[in-house]
Amino acid sequence: MQKEVVVSGIRPTGFLHLGNYFGAMRNYVRMQNDYDCYFFVANWHSLTTHPDTKELKNSVHRVIAENIACGLDPEKVALYVQSDVPEIAELYLYLNMLSYKGELEKTATFKDKVRLQPENVNAGLLTYPVLMAADVIIQRAVKVPVGKDQEQHLEMARNFAERFNHRYGEVLPLPYAFNYGDELIKIMSLDGNGKMSKSENQLATIFLADDNDSIRKKIMKAKTDGGPAEPNSTKPDYIQNLFTLMKQVSTTDTLQKFEADFNASSTGNCIIRYGDMKKQLAEDMVQFIDPIREKAADIQNNQELLHKLIKMGAEKARMRASETLKIVREAIGLNY
Ligand code: TRP
Repeated sequence: MQKEVVVSGIRPTGFLHLGNYFGAMRNYVRMQNDYDCYFFVANWHSLTTHPDTKELKNSVHRVIAENIACGLDPEKVALYVQSDVPEIAELYLYLNMLSYKGELEKTATFKDKVRLQPENVNAGLLTYPVLMAADVIIQRAVKVPVGKDQEQHLEMARNFAERFNHRYGEVLPLPYAFNYGDELIKIMSLDGNGKMSKSENQLATIFLADDNDSIRKKIMKAKTDGGPAEPNSTKPDYIQNLFTLMKQVSTTDTLQKFEADFNASSTGNCIIRYGDMKKQLAEDMVQFIDPIREKAADIQNNQELLHKLIKMGAEKARMRASETLKIVREAIGLNY
């Protein structure tokens, strides 16, 4: 039986962190056996916000290397760079004729970016969702693993595909946002302010490229408090975050010990020692990240291998993309 097609993109605008890992990459790794997967580095998208390309090549290489180090198998999935697939740009052109200025201006991410970079409200920023739709539709994907913040873009992609089908014939499958049934794990910033982020407080974000000492330092500085006031209290979100991380990287016994300590604690009888908990979490996190960082570094230092892998990914991606373009051109009547 033919497997369903999955597409997802990662913007190369910074270092990948634990939020990316537990929110996205780990899901990709899981999907690679069940679906026909196309994962790519969205370097065209990054030009809408990062016109300076000094770091771009390095970042693209790092994202590729880190994804492989996290367990993506470039033999199983198509792992490629967006700009290596010019078919996407052509489809973007057609989809641009089916998207309206009004709906693009209403997009939440567009409004955010206008606020963040009022000096560079370029047309690429406005049509960001159209390019994203092209990424997805070019592989005729039906499932797109994305976080909450991207769901509106997916809905737009579906609208563009529907409009295309309505106008030119039912040739494009409709894509849907998708994740495995269990909830996506959200990783908060270690200072308790919002999500872990590539750009905000970097000392409160753990990156896959962090060395062991930085990991330890960052975790030891994580926000805690004087402990629960009553037994079996609800955890404040920054404490819950430490438990969430521990659940991912520590043994069940360790997690259960600290859970029990927390639940038995109250004012005047504080059993949980957050210092000890962070020390344990830091060591377990180091054990978890160290092999990923080393493997990613090995791949990044092997330019020949990287080039080979990137070329192989592009070939796989272009194979299906060119089929789609043929279908699209015929549907529109651009076949002379
Ligand atoms: N916009 C996505 C993000 O910011 C990245 C992305 C680009 C993407 N093209 C895509 C995700 C296609 C899924 C499918 O995270």
